Amino acid sequence: METYQKLFEPGKIGTLELKNRLIMSPMGTSSHDPEGFIREHTPPYYVERVEGGVGLIIAQSSNALREGQAPGRAGTWDDKFIPGLRQVADAVHAAGGKIAWQILNHGKLYSAWLDRITHPEDLKIIGPSAIPWVKTGVAPKEATEEDIRRIVEGFGEAARRVKEAGMDGVEIHGAHGYMITQWLSPRDNKRMDLYGGDAKRRARMACEIIAKVREKVGPNFPVTFRFSGSHLIQGGGTLEDSLLQAPLFVEAGADALHVSACEEETTHWQFLPYLMPDGAIVHLAAAIKKVVRVPVITVGKIWHPQLAEQILLEGKADFVAMGRQWLADPRWAQKVREGRFEEVQRCLYCNNCMNMEVRPPEVRKRGRTCTVNPAVLREREFRIMPAGTKKNVMVVGGGLAGMEAARVLAERGHEVSLYEGSDKLGGQWNIASAQPLKENYRYLVPYMERRLERAKVKVFLNKEVTLNFIKETKPNGVVVATGALPKYLDVPGGHRSPVVQANDVIMGKAKVGNPVVVIGGRLVGMEIADALAEEGRKVFLVTKNKLGENGALLERNIYRALRDRLIQHGVYLFPDSPVMEILENGVQIAYKREGVFLKANSVVLAVGAIPNDGLWRELKKEGMEVYAIGDCVEPRDAMEAIREGAEVGRTI
Ligand SMILES: Cc1cc2nc3c(=O)[nH]c(=O)nc-3n(C[C@H](O)[C@H](O)[C@H](O)COP(=O)(O)OP(=O)(O)OC[C@H]3O[C@@H](n4cnc5c(N)ncnc54)[C@H](O)[C@@H]3O)c2cc1C
Ligand SMILES: Cc1cc2nc3c(=O)[nH]c(=O)nc-3n(C[C@H](O)[C@H](O)[C@H](O)COP(=O)(O)O)c2cc1C
Ligand code: SF4
Repeated sequence: METYQKLFEPGKIGTLELKNRLIMSPMGTSSHDPEGFIREHTPPYYVERVEGGVGLIIAQSSNALREGQAPGRAGTWDDKFIPGLRQVADAVHAAGGKIAWQILNHGKLYSAWLDRITHPEDLKIIGPSAIPWVKTGVAPKEATEEDIRRIVEGFGEAARRVKEAGMDGVEIHGAHGYMITQWLSPRDNKRMDLYGGDAKRRARMACEIIAKVREKVGPNFPVTFRFSGSHLIQGGGTLEDSLLQAPLFVEAGADALHVSACEEETTHWQFLPYLMPDGAIVHLAAAIKKVVRVPVITVGKIWHPQLAEQILLEGKADFVAMGRQWLADPRWAQKVREGRFEEVQRCLYCNNCMNMEVRPPEVRKRGRTCTVNPAVLREREFRIMPAGTKKNVMVVGGGLAGMEAARVLAERGHEVSLYEGSDKLGGQWNIASAQPLKENYRYLVPYMERRLERAKVKVFLNKEVTLNFIKETKPNGVVVATGALPKYLDVPGGHRSPVVQANDVIMGKAKVGNPVVVIGGRLVGMEIADALAEEGRKVFLVTKNKLGENGALLERNIYRALRDRLIQHGVYLFPDSPVMEILENGVQIAYKREGVFLKANSVVLAVGAIPNDGLWRELKKEGMEVYAIGDCVEPRDAMEAIREGAEVGRTI
């Protein structure tokens, strides 16, 4: 059995004693009311992670000041929030855990919420200098001395409330492009006074905030400061800057430094998607650790205990924070400690948890969720409750949706038969996970298969279910999860050679020549274009919309990471370019309202999917008790498929 001794060694941050070196890093849950009050499903969410063995939770960011208050974020800007925070702290303590709370201000980024602000009377977008934010074009007002005093005091008061609520510590959010990052950044901070200029002067605002927080909470209350070790953007803050600034943060009163990365335009270095290496920003923490004497926390796509242990053993950091892995499997620490790492549900780094805008309103309203763990923020509601009446349920389709529904139904006591038309379970996920960079994706189906087995679901492969079969079998309930099939393009030449489907290329069933036109500019199109270019082909990527925007938005960080890869690999990009015709030797497109011919030997289609809903329609016509879930309702993604499976499993 692999033991990870260092991970489970006690540690200390300021006066706070921690049972191990494992931290849950702050993740906005988006589960609050618009004013910022904690809702009832937040405490059980944290308790679940405490029970799973985390050493310290650094909870989600909260608005430290009413000005710049983003809707959906928790509030710490008024004493009225203390009772809600106390409920969380009490629940965590009752479960034997430790929790700190994060405070922030948005600065210029607040201009993204102008259409949704809850206190227009307090509208203040303030930054170090009046440099417009490229996303909104809005320039913050340059902070006056009075603004600086008010903001610093606001952070101090927020920290006082966190302490009064019974939390074990407070974290000041100085990373990721929010207000404090803007003061640290040479791109945003062009001031000529004491708050601007070289790296040390740019750190003055951060230091004043840390010092004020320290003054308000006293010497024995742990204060951590989170910042971006590098902003990883042209002209932004660098690691060299951070090496000069880090000792100042400590001098100002920080008990530990929590080293992340990025600013607003480079958040793919914060929310490292599957496309980026594991532990990609650990080197920043390791460098900072050499210039300070307080504990350093590292973070960023660390999910394998071996990597986490190695970071500690090599002295690159004193604590390892994980974010998304705690969403995917709240029991990570417990399983690792007990030598059951193979039972961990790995985070896919799919970033669906970041893409809540595309979720149904009722899901969005409740807050964040996770592809592989739909119980996030539904911890109580999703406990397995025995079914009132035991039924004989047939699930048709062994993709993610069908597998999840079948397992939950069986765990609730139903007699469940799962029928899959092909020779293996997993459906489209087998294609999705065949891409070289999607290694963690490949663990999902085996993980779900093991759970099906444990739940004693009867699985039938190579069995295409028909209406007649269902009539003969006479189940008490039918769940249809028949998925989706790839779409073709309705243009002249759209269905014949040299056209091939991206799915077939990924699965090695179709050959691709050189040069190649890829049609479709969302996830699958961008991924296949990237893979084909990496193999040395000349690739044209054509999409009728903007890159990453066919209908629903592609998650921003995956988009950014893929966009950068396409640029690096020299893919020729043709956004806003509808395809007019596909010929034997290439593709005719309309580019900037002119016909352009792209000469190519192959054309790869990645233009979405159509629901495979024939059986569902037939069953509905027959008036049978039938539930449809996943892509056969509407092609979407794995998060929707599993969530709908989980919900239907609790409905019947
Ligand atoms: C290339 C590619 C990349 C993707 N990448 C991502 C990604 O990165 N992130 C993400 O979240 N999503 C991704 N997706 C989407 C995701 O894979 C799907 O949304 C999800 O897997 C759908 O699951 P499902 O169970 O609803 O349907 P499916 O996976 O389509 O499963 C349906 C199953 O039903 C079976 N079936 C159909 N009819 C019958 C019948 N009559 N009898 C018995 N069996 C039947 C089929 O054989 C199939 O196995 C990707 C998809 C593709 C194709
Ligand atoms: C859903 C979500 C919300 C996040 N919200 C915050 C936040 O409020 N404050 C913060 O400092 N970082 C936030 N982060 C960043 C995480 O703390 C962490 O740095 C990042 O996810 C990388 O760690 P991981 O690869 O282990 O997930 C968030 C991340 C996620 C996935
Ligand atoms: S949604 Fe995806 S990235 Fe987010 S926590 Fe779940 S598995 Fe990880």
